[in-house]
Amino acid sequence: MRLKKFALAVAVIMASNYPGYAQTANPILVKAGTAVAPVQSTMWGIFFEDINLGADGGIYAELVKNRSFEFNDPLMGWNISGDGVKEGNFLILNRQSENPNNPRYLRVTATGERKGLMQLSNEGFRGMGIKQGLRYDFSVKYQQLIPGMKLHLELVNEKGEPIGAAAFEPLSGTGWQQGNISFTANATVAKAKFNIRFEGSGQLDLDMISLFPSDTWKGRKGGLRADMVQMLADLKPGFVRFPGGCIVEGRDLNNRYQWKKTIGPIDQRQQIVNRWNTEFSYRPAPDYFQTFGLGFFEYFQMAEDIGAEALPILNCGMACQFNTAELVPMADMDPYVQDALDLIEFANGDATTQWGKLRIEMGHPAPFNLKMMGVGNENWGPQYLERLQLFTKAIKSKYPAFNLIYSAGPFSDGELFTQLDTALRKMGADYIDEHYYRKPDWFLKNAARYDNYDRNGAKIFAGEYAAHITEQKKDPIERSNWLAAMSEAAFMTGLERNAAVVQMASYAPLFAHVDGWQWNPDLIWVDNLRVCGTPSYYVQQLFSTNKGTDVVLATSNGQPLTGQDSLYVSAVVNSKTNELIVKLVNTGPVVMEKDLVIEGIKRNGASVQVFTLKGEKPDLSNSLDQPSVIVPVKSLLHAGGKKIRVNLSPYSLTVLNIPYKK
Ligand code: AHR
Repeated sequence: MRLKKFALAVAVIMASNYPGYAQTANPILVKAGTAVAPVQSTMWGIFFEDINLGADGGIYAELVKNRSFEFNDPLMGWNISGDGVKEGNFLILNRQSENPNNPRYLRVTATGERKGLMQLSNEGFRGMGIKQGLRYDFSVKYQQLIPGMKLHLELVNEKGEPIGAAAFEPLSGTGWQQGNISFTANATVAKAKFNIRFEGSGQLDLDMISLFPSDTWKGRKGGLRADMVQMLADLKPGFVRFPGGCIVEGRDLNNRYQWKKTIGPIDQRQQIVNRWNTEFSYRPAPDYFQTFGLGFFEYFQMAEDIGAEALPILNCGMACQFNTAELVPMADMDPYVQDALDLIEFANGDATTQWGKLRIEMGHPAPFNLKMMGVGNENWGPQYLERLQLFTKAIKSKYPAFNLIYSAGPFSDGELFTQLDTALRKMGADYIDEHYYRKPDWFLKNAARYDNYDRNGAKIFAGEYAAHITEQKKDPIERSNWLAAMSEAAFMTGLERNAAVVQMASYAPLFAHVDGWQWNPDLIWVDNLRVCGTPSYYVQQLFSTNKGTDVVLATSNGQPLTGQDSLYVSAVVNSKTNELIVKLVNTGPVVMEKDLVIEGIKRNGASVQVFTLKGEKPDLSNSLDQPSVIVPVKSLLHAGGKKIRVNLSPYSLTVLNIPYKK
C-alpha cells in the first residue's frame, strides 16, 4: 500500500514536472448507452474528379496518350521518326460525317526500299509505368488498304533500350478490323515509351492504338489501375461522388460533362478537352483531354466494387460561373432534365427500358440501385434556383423517394452562401452540398459549425473540403502536411458529432499525379508506378473505417469538446460489433493525459484497440519515396473497466475502440 502511494506520488510529480506534459482535470464523460443520432452508412465518402491526371493518365490504366488522334493537335503525344520519312507517309484523315464521335485516324503509307524502318512513338502520359514480368495488351483498329506491312511493337526504357516487344501482322481483309496482341515486359521502368516500327510496303489505317497493363483492377480488360482503386477501397467509402467538381459544369457548355457520351463502345465515346487543360496559367496541361474510358458505367461499377453508393453530379444548364457562366435558356432545358431522368433509368431500369437495356448490354444485368444525384456544382444565383426547380419537379414526380443534392455554391459563408442556403431550404432541399477550402485555422475554429444546424431541415453534404496551408511548397505534396490533416480531423469530430444533420462528407480533390497536377493539396499522390496516401488520407481512413452506427455524447464539463485546451472529441458506438469508438484530436504540442468515464454500457474486460496518427512536427508530410512518415499505428491499451486513462500524444489523432458486452 505504502509502495503504491509512493509510486503514484512519483508519477504525479513526474507528470507535472515534465515540460511536454499536460494533465487536464476534467474527465471526458461518454454516454455510450444513449444514441443521439444514427451515423449514415454514407457518412464518409470519396470525391472523384478528372483533375491532376486523376482519370486519363491516372486511374484509367490506358498507357497510350491520344490513342485516337482526337486531341486538338492530332499528333500530340506521338513522334514520327525513321530513315527517309517524307511528307505523306503519315497522314491524319477525318471521316467526320461517317464517324462524328471518333472522326480522326492515321494513314501510314510505306513504299519502296528503305534502309531503316519508319517509326511512330507514343510518349505516354508523362511516360509509361511498366513493370517487369507483367503482360501488356496491345490493341488497335486498322484497315489494310494495300497489304504488305508488318508492325514491330516495342516498349523502351528512358535510354531507348527495348524492354518488351511483339510483332503484329495485320490480317488480310477489307474494312476496319480489330487487332490484339500481348507481350511481357522484362524490366520495370517509370517513364517508358512505346514504339511502332513499320516493316515492308503498303498502306494501313490505324485508330484506337492502345496499350494496357494486364494487372488492372479485377483484371478487367481496358480497366483501372489496381493500386489506385485499392487506395479507394481501403477507405471503405460510403459513397463515390463523380465526375466532379468543376468538370461537371465545363468552362463553357460545350465542354460540360455529358454522361451519355461516356457510355457504350469505347471508340464511340466522343473525346473533349479537359477543363483543367487551361484553367491555371501557371500549371498548363495542353495534353489533358477526356477520353471517357472511365465513363459513367465504369464509375458505377467502381463504386459498386468498393461497396460505396454512387453519387453522380449532373450539369444544371449552367457552365462554370467563374469562367464563361454560359446559361441554357429555360425553354431549352428539356434535354438537361431528360439526362437526369435517363440516368436514373440507366442505373436502375430493367431490360424493358431504353437506358436500362443499355446498361444490361454493357454487362451489368442487376440495377446499380442509384438513390441520389446532385444537380449543379458550385452554381448560384436565381438562374440556378430556377433550373433546380425544373429538375426537382421532373425527378420527384417520377421518383418521389429519390434524393437530390443542391449546391450551396463555392463559399462556406458570406452573403452568397446565406442567400442560397435560405432559398434551398425553402425549396425543401434533401441535401445541401457545402464546400470549404480554407486555412487549417478555419477548420480548428469551426468544429462546432453544425452544432446549431436545424435537425429537421435539409441534410448536409460536406461535398468538398481540405485544409489549405498558406505557403506554396516546391514539392506540392508537402502542402498535404500533418497540420492540414490534423485540422481536418479536428473539424471532422464536429461532422461526426452532428451526424444527425451531416450525412455525407468528402475531402477534395482525390488524386494528383506528381508530374501532371493542377491543384494542390490532394488526398492521394501517384506517379506512373506508385501511390502515396497523404496524412489527410489516413485521417479519412480512420474516420471511415471507424464510423460506427450511432453517435453518442462525449462531453467535458457538460460541453462538447470543440477545441478547449486544444482537444477535439467525438464518439460513436458500433451496435453491430459492440464497440464504443472515441476519436480524440490533441492539436497541442504536449502530451495530454485524459480520463474517459464511460456510462451506459458494460465493459467486457477486453483491451482497448488504439490507433494513433501523429506527426512529430505539424509540417511533416508523406512522399512517394517515404510514404509512411505519418501513418496510423495500432496498439493495445489494457483497460477493461469504465474509466480509461489515455495519454494523447502531441499533435495527434487517437481512435479508441472500446469493446463492451452486448
Ligand atoms: O476540387 C477542385 C475544385 O474545387 C472542384 O472542381 C470544384 O468544385 C471546386 O471549386
